[in-house]
Amino acid sequence: MKAFKNKYGDYALITGASSGIGAEFARQLAAMGFNLVLVARRVSRLDELAATINRQYRVDVKTIGLDLLDERAVETIVAATKNIQIGLLIPNAGLEVHGDFVSNSYEMESNTIKLNALVPMQLAHIFGGKMAERRKGGIIFVSSTFGHQSVPYFANYSASKAYVLSIGQALNYELKKKGVDVTVLSPGLTKTEMTQGMKGMDFSKMPIIEMGVEPVVRKALKALGKKQAVIPGKWNNMMDIMGKFTTPRWMLTNMFGFLVSRAMTRPAQAVKAVKQPAGLR
Ligand SMILES: NC(=O)c1ccc[n+]([C@@H]2O[C@H](COP(=O)([O-])OP(=O)(O)OC[C@H]3O[C@@H](n4cnc5c(N)ncnc54)[C@H](OP(=O)(O)O)[C@@H]3O)[C@@H](O)[C@H]2O)c1
Repeated sequence: MKAFKNKYGDYALITGASSGIGAEFARQLAAMGFNLVLVARRVSRLDELAATINRQYRVDVKTIGLDLLDERAVETIVAATKNIQIGLLIPNAGLEVHGDFVSNSYEMESNTIKLNALVPMQLAHIFGGKMAERRKGGIIFVSSTFGHQSVPYFANYSASKAYVLSIGQALNYELKKKGVDVTVLSPGLTKTEMTQGMKGMDFSKMPIIEMGVEPVVRKALKALGKKQAVIPGKWNNMMDIMGKFTTPRWMLTNMFGFLVSRAMTRPAQAVKAVKQPAGLR
């Protein structure tokens, strides 16, 4: 535990730390002795978590209440952390959108790409650069098993996660030479607010097994410095291997299209009303 902290130290920066996988990263890293910078919109949630962690582990926890979709969000994080050393970066905050792509809100689909792909890339560029200068640091990207496939009715979400998987694996190679470890975590269905609050989907109709956040995060921390990418859970790994090595991608896409549309309780229906800026239609 101490070796891990010493290898990356001093602070871990976690986005989307107010719930789910991000909050669990905060708890497990604090238990290892990391000081933390926690980012999310619900600052009261962050402050509550910070107080609990501080009481339990006696580490320093800074909170930044911030909407990562704001134009200057990344600059705000950089300014707020300029006097501390970010040794671990976990750009975990994410947004899920599903349903019939062209009927979904234009704004929500655009925000999905921004939050899931653009912001993690920007944070990795800035903090990865500082880590490379110090020849010390680690980045854990958060993709999804849906990022390993093209998933109809999660088309843009799965594409955003495919981006994260791709850049993370490539950076694992590039940054290793500069003393920085990178790994990509691809959780399958995980019990968090994201999945609990997901309207219009009945995942029990799909051949997937839900996991808790604790083993998902543990797997990612264990993989850092050892693996380019990691999928938690035996079942998720079996599905991934079966998919990759036994079925052509076009067939997998069709299979996912069938499975997801069967699990949609409001088939091929928009999640939100169409909201496209005037003049784009
Ligand atoms: N749960 C799953 O089954 C699953 C599977 C594969 C991958 N993932 C990925 O895991 C990551 C974490 O998700 P989760 O499952 O833990 O869901 P979650 O509990 O809903 O957590 C999402 C986090 O992102 C933050 N967030 C959302 N929009 C934000 C914004 N505009 N600005 C700043 N923070 C924002 C939320 O905080 P605030 O609302 O307070 O801002 C929250 O802390 C995501 O990238 C997700 O795609 C999840």
